[in-house]
This record gives sequence, structure tokens and C-alpha cells, in this order.
Amino acid sequence: MKTYHLRDGVGLNQLFQVEAPEPAPGPGQVLIQMKAWSLNYRDLLVMGGKYSNRLPNPLVPLSDGVGEIADCNGDVHGLKKGQRVACLFFPDWHEGNLTGEKTKRALGANDQGVLAERVVANASAVIPVPEHLSHEEAACLPCAGLTAWNALFHSHSQVQSKTVLIMGSGGVSLFGLQFAKSAGWKVAAVSRREESLDRMKTMGLDYGVCSRKTPSWGEAIRSWSQGGVDQVLELGGGATLPQSLRAVRVGGEISLIGILGGADQEFNPLPVIMKGLALRGIFVGSKDMFQQMNTAISGQGIKPVIDRVFPFSEVKEALAFLEKGNHFGKICIAH
Ligand SMILES: NC(=O)c1ccc[n+]([C@@H]2O[C@H](COP(=O)([O-])OP(=O)(O)OC[C@H]3O[C@@H](n4cnc5c(N)ncnc54)[C@H](OP(=O)(O)O)[C@@H]3O)[C@@H](O)[C@H]2O)c1
Repeated sequence: MKTYHLRDGVGLNQLFQVEAPEPAPGPGQVLIQMKAWSLNYRDLLVMGGKYSNRLPNPLVPLSDGVGEIADCNGDVHGLKKGQRVACLFFPDWHEGNLTGEKTKRALGANDQGVLAERVVANASAVIPVPEHLSHEEAACLPCAGLTAWNALFHSHSQVQSKTVLIMGSGGVSLFGLQFAKSAGWKVAAVSRREESLDRMKTMGLDYGVCSRKTPSWGEAIRSWSQGGVDQVLELGGGATLPQSLRAVRVGGEISLIGILGGADQEFNPLPVIMKGLALRGIFVGSKDMFQQMNTAISGQGIKPVIDRVFPFSEVKEALAFLEKGNHFGKICIAH
């Protein structure tokens, strides 16, 4: 079967399509005939050597993919042949709070990923996906979708209604917009592109600020929300945190999710103290959270936003397209 290997180091030029032996499911495992995958910014970090220094060599990249069960071996938790499933980003985080043990294995980094025609997984480490979604749409859920879900619905403040700030127009951000609007919340966004803000407004965005035109966008959002938003989905890292700290209200929450602007900036903790903020690091989510998210997605008929779908033979082109950072929503691979 065809798969991709990241070999002997890092960089897109180290990524090769190769022929690999057919995998066979052991006891309690399923064989999945993969149909579609989605890319995450994290895949660029992995391939750029910025994510983990414990990568297997060779590494099969990507955490996110969807396929149909082609074979089952023994007790497979009620799953059956032909069923459509996604693999869990963390195969061992099924419920409860995150622990070192539960997050030790992560697909497409320190554990082999899913960018192969066929994949074997423990039956407990896969989850059926909502039926109304296409293969590509369903492939967007395991990392980007679940991260936004965890941030919004497992936050410290379990309130009925809130105002949320999202950042950029990539995968996590647009899931954040869709989930927050489906809960009836108000959403503000900061984006480098006016046209992306216009598109988000057609999806229900209440207020948008273009960071290129308004570099001190935190103040604009603070003023629009009359004292600050309740929660920020912080995707930029140190580069955007100072503005997020202005945009959030006293007693609000910042969900630390991404490092789009880099990971090496200094950060002044004083506003966190003086505003009594909750900072919560988000690391994707558990199988339980995934199940809750699926129920909401099915119930509300939510469909992930996909910018472009590339064929399996053009994974490198798809990653290069992601790297440019001009997409709106998710970038997928189909087979
Ligand atoms: N902690 C976790 O569990 C977790 C899970 C998923 C993702 N993440 C992280 O969250 C971040 C977003 O991930 P994603 O997969 O949604 O990314 P993505 O789909 O690649 O989206 C990136 C978007 O952010 C904006 N952007 C790009 N470069 C930027 C920069 N230098 N500064 C500010 N904004 C920039 C762009 O939107 P505009 O052009 O509209 O500004 C772009 O479309 C990444 O850092 C990723 O590693 C973390």
C-alpha cells in the first residue's frame, strides 16, 4: 500500500511517498481503509522539527484522517465492518483530565500517523463520525474541531452566554466561530485579511478587526465588547498575547492554543494578575469530548469549512499551500 514517510530528519524535502507492507489488525484492533485526511498547522511544526525531538524514523505524518473499517480482529467495542471512523489524536486519552500518561502517544508525532492508504488502530482509539459529513469534512474533526470544542465547552467558566474572540481564519478559529454561534454566543474575530472577516460575517461573526489596519486591535475589541470579551481563543502565541490581554475582560479567560506568531517572545504576566485572568492551556481533547462534539455537530447540522482538497499524490503541495497561511478553513487530502 502507499503511504508517506518523513525520513532522516525534517523538512518537506524529507517527505516521500513510499510502498509499505499491508498492515494487519492484531487482537482488539481494526483495519481502516482511509478515505480522507486534513492538515493542521501542527503538521508543519512536526515536519519543521519544532514540535518534538522524539519522532520515529521514518515517521508516517498526520493526526487527522477518516476511513471505513475494512477488518476487525476480536472484541472491537461494538464497531463493525464498513463503519466510518476517525482515529483519536491521543489514542490513550479517553476520558477525564489530561495526564502525562494519556498524552504520551500522539498520532503523527511521537506515534505513527494516519497518512497511509490503510491504517491499523486499537478499536478503543477510534470514534464513529457524524453521518451528514463528507469524508473530507469528517477528517477535519480530530484536531482542529476537538481543540475548539475543548476550549469553549470545557472552560473554567461554565456560563450560559459569553462573548468570544477568535483569531485568524484557519481551522481552529472557524470551528470556534461555528461552535460559539451554535451556542448563541457573540463572537469577535481578528484577522490579517478584510475579505476573511467579510466571509466570517456571512457565518454569523458579530464583529471583526483587521490586524493589518488596526495593530492595537485589542483596544477595538475591548471597546466593542464594552469592557472586554469573556474568552479568547489565543492562537498567535507571544506575538498576539499582549493584544489578547487588552481584549479580555477582568476575570475573563484566555485559552492558550497556538503559536502562529512564533514561540519565543517574552510575556509580561502583570495584566494576568491585575485582571485575575484564567489562563488555560488546551491540548486537543479526549474521546469523551469528541463524542460530545459529534452529538452537537450532528444535532446542529454543522459542516466544517474546507478551503481546498488535494489528491493523495499531492501532499507536499497541500503542505506548501498550508504554509503560505492564506487559506480560509481547512485543507484536506482525498483518496
Ligand atoms: N493546542 C492544541 O491542541 C492545538 C490544536 C490545534 C491547533 N493548534 C495551534 O493553533 C494554531 C492555529 O492552528 P490551525 O490549525 O487552526 O492553523 P491554520 O488552519 O493554519 O490557520 C492559521 C490562520 O491564522 C492566521 N495566521 C497565520 N499566520 C499568522 C501569524 N503569524 N499571526 C497571526 N495569525 C496568523 C491566518 O488567518 P488570517 O489570515 O485570517 O489572519 C491563518 O489562516 C497553530 O499554532 C496550531 O499549532 C493547537
